[in-house]
Amino acid sequence: MRKTALGVLGFAWFGLAASALAADRPEWAFPVTDKTPPAMLPDDGKPKSAPGSDRGYTRAQIEDLFNPPDWYPNIHPAMPSVVAKGEAPNVRACAACHLPTGTGHTESANIAAMPASYLLQQMDDYKTGARKGSGSMLAIAKAISDEGNKAAAAYFASLKQPKWIRVVEAETVPKTYVAAGNKRVIHPDHIFEPLGARVIELAEDENRLLNRDPGSGFVAFVPKGSVEKGKALAQSGGPQACAQCHGEDNRGAKEIPGLAGRTPTYLVRQLFMIQNGERAGVGVEPMKAIVAKLSVDDMLNLAAYFGSLEP
Ligand code: HEC
Ligand code: HEC
Repeated sequence: MRKTALGVLGFAWFGLAASALAADRPEWAFPVTDKTPPAMLPDDGKPKSAPGSDRGYTRAQIEDLFNPPDWYPNIHPAMPSVVAKGEAPNVRACAACHLPTGTGHTESANIAAMPASYLLQQMDDYKTGARKGSGSMLAIAKAISDEGNKAAAAYFASLKQPKWIRVVEAETVPKTYVAAGNKRVIHPDHIFEPLGARVIELAEDENRLLNRDPGSGFVAFVPKGSVEKGKALAQSGGPQACAQCHGEDNRGAKEIPGLAGRTPTYLVRQLFMIQNGERAGVGVEPMKAIVAKLSVDDMLNLAAYFGSLEP
């Protein structure tokens, strides 16, 4: 009798905790393709172009994740084969999602100029499942060859971190939805809505985003006052200033990734996943005390501040 009662109690408590957590989860930082996205104009099948590039790719070529476009071969070093073409059938080309420049989109990650040892550790954490957050990365890390893994890490570590994000404080933003590939785009209704306590990142040029063109970055709309609040928190608010570990001006230290100029949506996602244990890789221990007491608003403010810094 007692056993049953405890069982019921335990179950009820679990349900409560799970729904409380779900309520806190910043869904805007975890973009997932809408179940019923608005209808788009059909593709005309013609090759697309990019400013200053002599190349053209059709939509089908742009969506080929084993041979994605390389619009500007002159702005990055020669890509190793795993970055440009992947390793069929299970390792899609890194450049498809992270772009040849490593700067990526809000739903993926900016991995340009990250320390190679850090990148390899993350691949290992995805492989063991200690780090979650992306089904693609879990599958890729399991299937990638040792050789490919090292070549990709060396390539992305060798890149420069360009200015890719423009942070703008705002009260209203264009209404958006999440299109195929988890990409946030402007809703065809073309109306504005309150930003609220979110970061909404939009491509400076949506066509260039959809064309996987690394020549044009993002505007991150953040709430009024968030950059200053984030700065105060980064410098003194937490148990330790972020720059103590993340390097001078938060541009990265030996084995620790930089935060300056990186996609705020991604940063919030990581802080949240480190706090709730979805990201529990080998190197994350020093971050646990840092994130323990952060609210989602604190995470947002920190991310707004880091996004606003020169990379
Ligand atoms: C289909 C899309 C896709 C492809 C292809 C892809 N990635 Fe990723 N990658 C992602 C996403 C999405 C994330 C962010 C996950 C998150 O937010 O937690 C990510 C994150 C990462 C991270 C973690 C970055 C950090 O700062 O901690 C590394 C490292 C990485 N990818 C390496 C690679 C490498 C190397 C390849 C090629 C072998 C690759 N990725 C191919 C989608 C992709
Ligand atoms: C005591 C050292 C230390 C301090 C202080 C610290 N960090 Fe970190 N941080 C790390 C380490 C180490 C990692 C890499 C974790 C891993 O390997 O998975 C990391 C990773 C991160 C990541 C994930 C980066 C990525 O590319 O995925 C974010 C975001 C982050 N830290 C934010 C912060 C913020 C914001 C602060 C200040 C409030 C801060 N950190 C302070 C050590 C620290």
